[in-house]
Amino acid sequence: MATEPRRCDGFDALLLIFVSGIELQITGRNAPGPVGVDFGAAAMRHRRVAGHNELLGKAVGAGKKAALSVLDATAGLGRDSFVLADLGAEVTCCERNPVAAAMLESGLALAQNSTDHWLATTSSRMQLVTDDATRLTADFLRDIDVIYLDPMFPQREKSAAVKKEMALFQLLLKDEESSNERLLDWALGCSVARVVVKRPSKAPPLGAKIPSHCIKGKAVRYDVHVLSGLS
Ligand SMILES: C[S@@+](CC[C@H](N)C(=O)[O-])C[C@H]1O[C@@H](n2cnc3c(N)ncnc32)[C@H](O)[C@@H]1O
Repeated sequence: MATEPRRCDGFDALLLIFVSGIELQITGRNAPGPVGVDFGAAAMRHRRVAGHNELLGKAVGAGKKAALSVLDATAGLGRDSFVLADLGAEVTCCERNPVAAAMLESGLALAQNSTDHWLATTSSRMQLVTDDATRLTADFLRDIDVIYLDPMFPQREKSAAVKKEMALFQLLLKDEESSNERLLDWALGCSVARVVVKRPSKAPPLGAKIPSHCIKGKAVRYDVHVLSGLS
């Protein structure tokens, strides 16, 4: 018998497995629809055409160095990683939550095997590491130019799609915020040229660490800690 997510009270969420990939569905009477990773979705294409990716590109220094290598240390469902790869960067997507990582792996496989040339080539610049970023060794990080952090923060956009994802992250990632400052301290101690932190536009800098400069958007801000030149 099929399980009806809105009437299922024995589990917090259901993992839906299809031939094409996996999705996660929160249960409960007012539960939003399932969440999956689809880099070819209209929202991703819109974000690109509307130029919403330029601020992130500027923050990491895209264009300042050929084949910029970025560690997305909080990869989540990989949207920012995909944007960075679309801007030409080689992206290591690091995600420590096994469910989020499995969803990202599923979305990556879908894109990498796509007949859409843009999806396939962009995603070929992304590789997934399922681990806590702070456990990555100096040797692993040797070729990384920029560490990018998008730690969990309270909901910043009001669209239904974002609400749906936030509800999912809040379910998966209880007690997350307490480790964000430690993550920034770790990143600032790594031998990289820049550390970039995504923040809500009006929030104080993470860990009260004053960045070298900020790239400001309407809803979000990128705090850029410049540690050395990009060359
Ligand atoms: C707000 S989400 C990131 C969303 C992502 N930027 C995107 O575009 O989909 C934060 C993610 O960082 C992950 N995370 C937090 N600390 C981490 C760490 N130390 N190492 C690896 N992943 C971490 C969490 O599990 C969560 O999935």
